[in-house]
Amino acid sequence: FSEFLTDNFNRQHTYLRISITERCNLRCVYCMPEEGVPLTPDSKLLSTPEILHIASLFVSQGVTKIRLTGGEPTIRKDIIELVTELGKLKDKGLKELAITSNGIVLTRKLDKLVQGGLTAVNLSLDTLEPGKFEIMTRRKGLENVLKTIDKALELGVQPLKINCVVMRGVNDYEIPKFVEMTREKPVEVRFIEYMPFDGNKWNENKMVPFSSMLSQIQSLHPTIAKVADHKNETSKTYQIPSFAGRIGFITSMTHNFCGTCNRLRVTSDGNLKVCLFGNEEVSLRDMMRTNDVRKEIVRDGGVGLMQDVRERERMEMERQMLDVIGVAVKGKREKHA
Ligand code: GTP
Ligand code: 5AD
Ligand code: SF4
Repeated sequence: FSEFLTDNFNRQHTYLRISITERCNLRCVYCMPEEGVPLTPDSKLLSTPEILHIASLFVSQGVTKIRLTGGEPTIRKDIIELVTELGKLKDKGLKELAITSNGIVLTRKLDKLVQGGLTAVNLSLDTLEPGKFEIMTRRKGLENVLKTIDKALELGVQPLKINCVVMRGVNDYEIPKFVEMTREKPVEVRFIEYMPFDGNKWNENKMVPFSSMLSQIQSLHPTIAKVADHKNETSKTYQIPSFAGRIGFITSMTHNFCGTCNRLRVTSDGNLKVCLFGNEEVSLRDMMRTNDVRKEIVRDGGVGLMQDVRERERMEMERQMLDVIGVAVKGKREKHA
């Protein structure tokens, strides 16, 4: 295993999350204000070749899983081409290519994405009632998400996880219905503790802790049992015997999982972030866009064949990027503040 992406707390970063757009076609109350988030000008966002460059650099250093996130990743215009190109990294050591989506427009693109190499899908779905869906996401679309679930199962997408952010007095009474989904469907429904983010009006009373979600389920299904979790799993997994699917809990608020965090993130404008909650970010984009290397080579008198110059430039740029990535990973804190 490559030491390079191992930090000072012996966490091996084999999982890269890349945000490929800030835009979203929903406005979930726990995530965004009605008016949406301020958007970065397109020229500052990573282009598709830049995303591919970053992805292949990380795979060459030992990343085995890439997850595309957003905003809503499926609204990026060239999502199919992007996934198909990323899929080719499987020859280089990538094992899992995943996406986290709200499932609104995913159904029509899913065949091609799976053909291109997409292996796993996490879908956000917080309610099974159309009216409540409109309140929680400020948009319509429940039917689309439900169709996406069935389509993904038809296509054999596994794992297929459903992310349900639980808010007290909003959708907590729907927990039993989500549990019911796992009776016949081989999906993992994950109940997520509501987390505070900038300006999402988080308040402790709205957060339902893992322990009370679990006891609510236990009272209806006393046989629910713990299932072993993978080493870097963010959720605690359970199953009701004879049910096809599983139930997970993401307990970011009551039991953080910093100790086993194996994730790195790249924002849509090309910053590397070693922690979701960390403020430190370093721009990989700027390193890819700088012309300094070219100038240096010319100053050297190293004219050579253009091919050689380009090759040297690329190698120098990657060396600089790896230096910066190495420093960021080694500097990752044990736990977020
Ligand atoms: P897999 O483990 O690959 O299935 O994905 P995931 O659970 O990491 O990703 P997903 O995009 O489905 O996110 C699910 C929930 O986990 C969301 O509520 C995220 O906010 C939360 N989450 C993702 N990464 C982190 C992290 O690094 N720290 C914390 N505390 N929460 C995270
Ligand atoms: N608390 C918990 N989970 C959240 N998500 C978005 N905002 C929050 C929050 N404030 C989840 C959504 C989505 C995933 C990427 O992040 O469920 O599925
Ligand atoms: Fe935020 Fe995801 Fe909801 Fe879009 S679908 S508003 S990104 S939580």
